Amino acid sequence: MIVYESMFGNTRRIAGAIAEGMGPEASVEVVGVNSERMDAIGDADLVIIGAPTHAHSLSTSSSREEAEEWAADPERNLQLDPQAHGRGVREWLDSQPPLPRLYAAFDTRADMIRLFTGAASTPIARVLGRRRMEAVVPAESFAVSMHNELARGEQDRAREWGQRIAEVAAQRHVGADNTEVDSTGAVSPGADTQ
Ligand SMILES: Cc1cc2nc3c(=O)[nH]c(=O)nc-3n(C[C@H](O)[C@H](O)[C@H](O)COP(=O)(O)O)c2cc1C
Repeated sequence: MIVYESMFGNTRRIAGAIAEGMGPEASVEVVGVNSERMDAIGDADLVIIGAPTHAHSLSTSSSREEAEEWAADPERNLQLDPQAHGRGVREWLDSQPPLPRLYAAFDTRADMIRLFTGAASTPIARVLGRRRMEAVVPAESFAVSMHNELARGEQDRAREWGQRIAEVAAQRHVGADNTEVDSTGAVSPGADTQ
């Protein structure tokens, strides 16, 4: 399952590209963090979580309000995403939702060096690490331009990242009961590896 937050649609588009990259066998569902379908997350084997970087971190209600103000400014030419209203990934994770043991985190952020931008995937990984969840791949960032459009090639990179996640999941034989079989055939019942 891929959970995304998005104010202007870029993180949603990256989530869709990741799902494409994972391929049809992966039976992946892409769900906005304010969607009713979020209830289904308890059944997932692996969750991929993505959010836009606001003020070097995850969004807050005030940064989302600022984003709504940007969208209301005709000079910026921005459309609010249908899923923009409501909570963000920060508030969702604060609510301690049931989650599978395996995850991957991504964000969208400005097309500059990370020191200047921060990355919303960092606090996502921090929270999930505290919950003893395990990242199947390192966190990834996807760049948007100053005009809040995805930088060239980022959807292709997201498809490749999704493909890598699907490969890792397949290698590990991630199963519906959330047990894993490693390459030697040994079964670990969701044991911590950190
Ligand atoms: C209030 C606000 C604060 C932002 N702060 C940052 C920031 O600190 N670093 C950064 O790289 N991008 C920042 N951005 C740009 C967002 O990362 C960008 O709008 C987002 O990735 C677009 O994704 P979305 O279309 O899914 O909302 C900010 C955007 C807004 C609206």
